[in-house]
Amino acid sequence: MNILELAQKQSTMMPDKYKTMNTEAMEARVREIKELLGTSLYIPGHHYQREEVIMFSDDTGDSLQLAQLSALNREADYIVFCGVHFMAETADILTNENQVVLLPDMRAGCSMADMADISQTERAWAKLQAIYGDTIIPLTYVNSTASIKAFVGRHGGATVTSSNAKEMVSWALTKKERILFLPDQHLGRNTAFDLGIPLDAMAVWDPIKDVLEDEGKSDIKVLLWKGHCSVHENFTVQNIESLRASQPGMNIIVHPECRREVVEAADYNGSTSYIIKMIENAPSGSKWAIGTEMNLVKRLMNHHPDKEIISLNPNMCPCLTMNRIDLPHLLWSLESILDKNPVNVISVDRQIADDAVLALNRMLERA
Ligand code: 13P
Ligand code: SF4
Repeated sequence: MNILELAQKQSTMMPDKYKTMNTEAMEARVREIKELLGTSLYIPGHHYQREEVIMFSDDTGDSLQLAQLSALNREADYIVFCGVHFMAETADILTNENQVVLLPDMRAGCSMADMADISQTERAWAKLQAIYGDTIIPLTYVNSTASIKAFVGRHGGATVTSSNAKEMVSWALTKKERILFLPDQHLGRNTAFDLGIPLDAMAVWDPIKDVLEDEGKSDIKVLLWKGHCSVHENFTVQNIESLRASQPGMNIIVHPECRREVVEAADYNGSTSYIIKMIENAPSGSKWAIGTEMNLVKRLMNHHPDKEIISLNPNMCPCLTMNRIDLPHLLWSLESILDKNPVNVISVDRQIADDAVLALNRMLERA
């Protein structure tokens, strides 16, 4: 890292005073600033955020809901996004130029989004076009960088989330013979399989080796980018088998970012909102093992004491990057707005945003 980069990094480091303030004082100050800024401030919070942050969110939601809410909000001058980097980028793309989006901690990235970069994607596209000709439409999970969304937008494709993936894959297959699904192989595979596409009609693109695995297969319909979520990959079939043996009567529900065999062995699978609704609607006394991020599982446990809720993996931790957004960083963001010197502003390059919005709008029109 050169000196300039180091200086820039330090200038966005949280001042020490926030590390020593007590929780009550921080909470009181956040409340006070929210009151002062009124509707000129909007705080969306993803379901995977910590409780200390989600308690101050104006709205909570899954990736799709937060994208829709950001697209609708024209009132707020400042959007303090409690989620990860790609979500704040999406909010910046979907809001007006005069609306400022802040991510309380710039280190809140997403390891899955980092598994597809634009030069890997351009290389893959060229090679896949050479194999399959002009028969491919790209789709990207919203858990991807703005540059990947822009690439997809430029090539006639769309974004998807875990709540509308089936609809978007079906739509894409009316446009072209096959799809390239970035960057989560598991969501792509689970969705295509649920739509009746056999595993034999899917092949995996390895962006590190720059090769198509299973190239010998004929009649490929879905090209899966070899990316994954490092949180959801920690749920295993063994977790399910040992639970079924030790605790019969447990309903097992997982997020479709889990591997195919885990989704297959579970009773239900769906997005974070789907999981929340299933638990809300479940009868009192029912038992649930949940395969998703730990902050959400803990919140469901607290909100539903009449139901027995556990994590599918007893050794599960929260998503480390989601967890970077904490009360001190939230307060720092809010005070920086009051000081008229907002920190950690997310500003997507205009050209990239113009292309990325094409992919996002193709999804939002159908969501
Ligand atoms: P959803 O909010 O679409 O369920 O996605 C989960 C996730 O991994 C967000 O990072
Ligand atoms: Fe990324 Fe997985 Fe964390 Fe979601 S849970 S932000 S996909 S690493």
